[in-house]
Amino acid sequence: MDFTSVTLAFIIVCCFRQGLSTANDTITSGQFIRDPHTLISANSVFKLGFFSPQNSSYRYLGIWYLSDSNIIWVGNRNQPLTNNSSGQVQISIDGNLVVLDSNKTVLWSSNVTRIAANSTAKLLETGNLVLLDGATGQTIWESFQHPSHALVPKMKFGTNKRTGEKVRITSWRSPSDPSVGYYSVTLEKPNTPEMFFWLNETRPYHRSGPWNNQIFIGSPEMSPGYLNGWNMINDIEDGTVYLSYNLLNQSYFGIMSLNPQGQIVCSWWINEKLVQRMVVQRTPCDLYGYCGAFGTCNFQSSPICSCLSGYKPKIVEEWHRKNWTSGCVRSEPLYCGEHTNGSEVSKDAFLKLENMKVPDFVHWSDSLEDECSAECLENCSCVAYAYDSGIGCMVWSGDLIDIQKFSSGGVDLYIRVPHSELGTFLFVLLLSR
Ligand SMILES: *[C@@H]1O[C@H](CO)[C@@H](O)[C@H](O)[C@H]1NC(C)=O
Ligand SMILES: *[C@@H]1O[C@H](CO)[C@@H](O)[C@H](O)[C@H]1NC(C)=O
Ligand SMILES: *[C@@H]1O[C@H](CO)[C@@H](O)[C@H](O)[C@H]1NC(C)=O
Ligand SMILES: *[C@@H]1O[C@H](CO)[C@@H](O)[C@H](O)[C@H]1NC(C)=O
Ligand SMILES: *[C@@H]1O[C@H](CO)[C@@H](O)[C@H](O)[C@H]1NC(C)=O
Ligand SMILES: *[C@@H]1O[C@H](CO)[C@@H](O)[C@H](O)[C@H]1NC(C)=O
Ligand SMILES: *[C@@H]1O[C@H](CO)[C@@H](O)[C@H](O)[C@H]1NC(C)=O
Ligand SMILES: *[C@@H]1O[C@H](CO)[C@@H](O)[C@H](O)[C@H]1NC(C)=O
Ligand SMILES: *[C@@H]1O[C@H](CO)[C@@H](O)[C@H](O)[C@H]1NC(C)=O
Ligand SMILES: *[C@@H]1O[C@H](CO)[C@@H](O)[C@H](O)[C@H]1NC(C)=O
Ligand SMILES: *[C@@H]1O[C@H](CO)[C@@H](O)[C@H](O)[C@H]1NC(C)=O
Ligand SMILES: *[C@@H]1O[C@H](CO)[C@@H](O)[C@H](O)[C@H]1NC(C)=O
Repeated sequence: MDFTSVTLAFIIVCCFRQGLSTANDTITSGQFIRDPHTLISANSVFKLGFFSPQNSSYRYLGIWYLSDSNIIWVGNRNQPLTNNSSGQVQISIDGNLVVLDSNKTVLWSSNVTRIAANSTAKLLETGNLVLLDGATGQTIWESFQHPSHALVPKMKFGTNKRTGEKVRITSWRSPSDPSVGYYSVTLEKPNTPEMFFWLNETRPYHRSGPWNNQIFIGSPEMSPGYLNGWNMINDIEDGTVYLSYNLLNQSYFGIMSLNPQGQIVCSWWINEKLVQRMVVQRTPCDLYGYCGAFGTCNFQSSPICSCLSGYKPKIVEEWHRKNWTSGCVRSEPLYCGEHTNGSEVSKDAFLKLENMKVPDFVHWSDSLEDECSAECLENCSCVAYAYDSGIGCMVWSGDLIDIQKFSSGGVDLYIRVPHSELGTFLFVLLLSR
């Protein structure tokens, strides 16, 4: 064999290996996909390939459902290909899945540090792109654990109590730019899990309220209907708590995504036909801490912010100018424990507020319903409690932040007040009948 025929043999082998003749859902080492070719999941509903957003000529590696107007994942979101036809995705020498431009520069990598030579990438029927170890077949990386802007069924949206690792969904910068945008959402407070929306990753922007095994109690607009099939899983073994959606019916599919304005967009398909696409609307009351500490927000009243009973504006002029940031402070001191005035013995008591979004910084307690009130009363730092049968006893100390009054939904929130004030409120209630 001379040099030329060796080369020729190599080229033939090489070219055969390039063809995706056996399965169109897998890339093995030596194979690549070049724009505009795609990988197709075995059930043919998901594709992995390059796409351009509307009004953009940049190319991004993405996974989509049915068509590239339903993108569920973006790879090189911050490093677009500026040349239409030059993108290529392949398994690199170090075993990672990579996106290369025409100069073979790596624009994106799955970045697994444990080198797994001879790995393969497969687009599963769930839309999950997995990187499999060639030797063991184990999953070493998956797009479902590194999502971009969207949640889809079977994805695990959660947080690891042990490592503190969180799955973060991040909005696009704009409808034509998938790069990391201003808004993101994570699952926080593993003991009373709730969805937290962030502005620029650090500032809380909105919170859903804790999950009660059916709904997030601070988001009545996300009615149980939307959330049918959603489950909160507490995996004690690996320390994760996560929200996951299970298809109740194989002919259904849904995408929950975060749009560039930080809103949730729900899209539903039945038998591959889009049946609904809706934006979950928010009011100013849904903005985190809108009325400040000890303030409560009611979108249907004017002004929309007021102080909780027993509290008054911290800075009155500011409050009257509708600047709610400083919030409210207690108007009468709490006694805490028993207080004797002459022969009278009085204790603090609780004022019931109905249909409330509970404040942030909840402490969960294993007290039963009839013990919850006593637990709070006996602890001088406890300023409020609430009980929900799906969650249990919730207590708060310190500032009460991000409270809202709903017209329906929410829970009963009990605010600690001095006994004397409870009398006044009852009197006021009686008078107002
Ligand atoms: C791969 O795709 C080609 C063309 O799209 C098709 O003819 C072939 O049947 C597919 N192979 C598999 C295994 O799905
Ligand atoms: C990219 O390709 C599209 C059509 O395939 C074409 O309209 C557009 O001008 C191209 N853009 C660049 C930058 O080559
Ligand atoms: C764009 O891609 C084409 C085809 O792959 C290549 O010929 C051309 O040099 C590339 N242009 C740039 C600017 O990289
Ligand atoms: C490839 O490299 C050449 C020369 O460095 C550069 O001019 C060109 O813009 C590069 N193309 C891409 C797509 O980065
Ligand atoms: C991969 O790692 C490099 C270097 O640590 C980093 O710059 C890059 O952003 C990472 N890429 C992804 C997709 O995480
Ligand atoms: C890579 O995997 C293929 C298929 O599993 C196997 O035939 C081949 O020997 C492996 N190569 C190496 C270097 O492990
Ligand atoms: C694309 O551009 C058109 C015309 O300027 C505009 O009407 C449309 O809203 C743009 N779409 C996106 C997603 O930016
Ligand atoms: C988020 O951060 C970016 C860059 O730091 C800044 O330009 C932008 O104004 C911030 N957005 C908001 C709403 O604060
Ligand atoms: C699934 O939904 C389709 C369309 O609504 C319906 O025809 C079918 O009976 C449902 N299947 C099951 C098992 O519920
Ligand atoms: C509202 O009050 C806060 C705190 O006193 C102050 O920092 C802020 O500038 C005020 N905002 C406006 C719009 O006046
Ligand atoms: C004690 O009782 C008297 C008379 O009822 C009342 O005027 C006074 O304010 C009470 N003091 C406190 C600290 O509650
Ligand atoms: C009282 O509540 C605080 C804050 O929730 C807590 O840290 C403390 O352990 C509680 N004290 C008792 C005696 O339960």
